[in-house]
Amino acid sequence: MKPRVLKIDPLRIDRGLIGQAAEIIHNRGLVAFPTETVYGLGANALDPRAVTGIFEAKQRPLDDPLIVHISNIEDLYSLAAEVPRQADRLVSRFWPGPLTVVLKKTGMVPELVTTGLETVAVRMPSNPIARSLIEISEVPVAAPSANLFGRPSPTTAEHVIGDLDGKIDLVLDGGTAEIGVESTVVEFIGDKVLVLRPGGISLEELSSIAGDVELADGAPDHAKNSPGKYPSHYSPLANVILIEEGPEQVENALAEASVRSDGGQKVGIMAKEEHARGFGGYDVKVLGPAEDGRTCASRLFHILREFDDEGIDVIIAESIPEKGLGLAVMNRLRKAAGPPVQN
Ligand code: TXA
Ligand code: MG
Repeated sequence: MKPRVLKIDPLRIDRGLIGQAAEIIHNRGLVAFPTETVYGLGANALDPRAVTGIFEAKQRPLDDPLIVHISNIEDLYSLAAEVPRQADRLVSRFWPGPLTVVLKKTGMVPELVTTGLETVAVRMPSNPIARSLIEISEVPVAAPSANLFGRPSPTTAEHVIGDLDGKIDLVLDGGTAEIGVESTVVEFIGDKVLVLRPGGISLEELSSIAGDVELADGAPDHAKNSPGKYPSHYSPLANVILIEEGPEQVENALAEASVRSDGGQKVGIMAKEEHARGFGGYDVKVLGPAEDGRTCASRLFHILREFDDEGIDVIIAESIPEKGLGLAVMNRLRKAAGPPVQN
């Protein structure tokens, strides 16, 4: 069974069509919808039976909590028991947008949404289709990325259908998600902002508002809360081999590529724009200019899926600088690549 697909023009929202989606949300159904980061798979966040459907469709483990999406900043105060000063500052500056805040939850949030945690993750997306879906549904919408668990997040309606065909009720097709990586997830420890997952708002942007910002990687106390803790997160079907930056980056990538292709594997290369011409003869896709994290982020998941569609066995990926959105790109690539190969 193909899910129904409704095309929506984000610049001229047809509220009648969104109303059909809201009806499905009310009837405990599942609606995939575009956000500015990636497509989400939405259900009524206040109804545990509806939320169960999300975990089933995605084959998502029941200990991986969901983000609750709102369309109105006031709703934060009914979902969160406390909104610390730093959280208030950040949401005032970055909402609506790709920032998710993890806060102590109220009794309004079902246990299943937070998988038993005392905290809830909340985000107000800026995509107008997402916003009107939440608004017209008149409930907060729980939504993980609309991919099968462990696959790259979807940035188009086609990606969603590729993963979830037959498992969901409706896809709102609003074109390509512009940012291309998921939201930045933060929690608060006193005045410190701890970044659990780098994403669409950069650390530099967070620091300019909140000052004391730290990346949670390597903070063992919070490792259990850290999103993307599963090793297979963000993986394409192909193996990903990451080539670190440096003067020999192209040579190192070529060396890996030739070993693999001599071994009979189908090789794809994901290159920096500056290096793309150095990989003649190979199947090369350009991530973007190395210093332009935003462009790289917008292409990342699409490229990983394209290589999968071509039946590539191994993707040789060039690292980019971990600045701006480049940090989120590298975080996803390191997860896709898994632990470094010993040889
Ligand atoms: O951009 C996004 O955030 C997209 C769009 C659809 O909004 N959503 C998304 O959801 O990426 P998902 O489920 O794929 O990732 C949510 C991450 C998970 O890794 C989860 O561990 C973390 O947020 N998370 C959710 N609730 C949390 C909590 N209470 N404490 C810590 N981390 C939490
Ligand atoms: Mg996800």
